[in-house]
Amino acid sequence: DYTPTPEDKFSFGLWTVGWQGTDVFGPSTRDLLDPVEATYRLAELGAAAVTFHDDDLLPDEDQRDSVLEKFEKALAETGLAVEMVTTNLFSAPVFKEGALTANNRDVRRYALAKVLRNVDLAASLGAKTFVLWGGREGAEHGAAKDVQAALDRYKEALDLLCAYVKDQGYDIRFALEPKPNEPRGDILLPTIGHAIALINELDDPSMVGLNPEVGHEEMAGLNFAQGISQALWHDKLFHVDLNGQHGPRFDQDLRFGAGNLRGAFWTVDALLGAGTGKAYDGYVHFDFKPPRAEAMDGVWESARGCMRNYLMLRERVQAFRADPDVVAALEAAEVGTLGTPTLAEGESLADLRAATYDVEGLGARSVGLEALDQLALEHLLGAR
Ligand code: GCO
Ligand code: MN
Ligand code: MN
Ligand code: MN
Repeated sequence: DYTPTPEDKFSFGLWTVGWQGTDVFGPSTRDLLDPVEATYRLAELGAAAVTFHDDDLLPDEDQRDSVLEKFEKALAETGLAVEMVTTNLFSAPVFKEGALTANNRDVRRYALAKVLRNVDLAASLGAKTFVLWGGREGAEHGAAKDVQAALDRYKEALDLLCAYVKDQGYDIRFALEPKPNEPRGDILLPTIGHAIALINELDDPSMVGLNPEVGHEEMAGLNFAQGISQALWHDKLFHVDLNGQHGPRFDQDLRFGAGNLRGAFWTVDALLGAGTGKAYDGYVHFDFKPPRAEAMDGVWESARGCMRNYLMLRERVQAFRADPDVVAALEAAEVGTLGTPTLAEGESLADLRAATYDVEGLGARSVGLEALDQLALEHLLGAR
């Protein structure tokens, strides 16, 4: 009946249900939600874990100890884990021109200190993933950012953070979250591919992976399922932000399943390993914003919908993969044949060049892709 259980490993950012609806055109439409209350409510709805930015939980330094005490009590009472922690390096005016890659050196040093303090907190709460989303790392003007120097500073910060985690003996890995724009006009590491390329230049690439978000790749016009499949291939899908988006426009952060529903179907399929590939085994994390028009009842409905939609899509995807007609269609489309190396063992390139090919016949062959895709659509629509 699509009721989530802790085994489903659903996780929510406290900032998602806690978003008060403030946007560029108007103030908040909802009251402040106490993160401790959010924790109890999310547990009731069936979540297994929560995540947060330092400032979501601890906006007020004076109350740090008492809030942490109440929060840890809520975690103990509900059995919820803190699986990921992240740092707000984008709201405060000090970060207006960047944080870890700001032109101003004091800003960069302050930003790194803020992350380090929060890494200590993450470790003390048992979080194993630490997300870095560089919303303010970027520029609006061409000459305003020396991109090559900014990438040097990004690498410097990540190398220092990885060395610190190893020094402390923390069981934590970092996950970069790409986004093409918003709030900056253009953000560094705009896509999954850009971020993977930077990771390969780090001192210890094994400690840094990705936290891709559905909407962010779709804002760039990209296919999310293909992007996370490549991340899985590189062993870089450390975490994921599921939500919904209608094509290339502002970051909509809709609940998962809203927006590009077919994309969501293939996203779940990719997370499950797309039949025969590597699967994602981390928390299924939702990063969405309940629409500003909703009151609190709509906020909880939106959170519930994320999980139900994931469970319904998972069921549809599993039915698709198990359907004998689909197995036959995959075979007709030679999808499995792609797993066979192009050059056979013991063969040489000379053999491959000397072989004769039925070029006309191959050009005219049936590929059966429409038939395969129609089966997927019918499973998605519940017609099979
Ligand atoms: C966005 C981003 C952010 C980050 C979050 C984690 O919507 O632009 O998703 O919400 O995920 O700040 O650092
Ligand atoms: Mn987003
Ligand atoms: Mn996100
Ligand atoms: Mn978000």
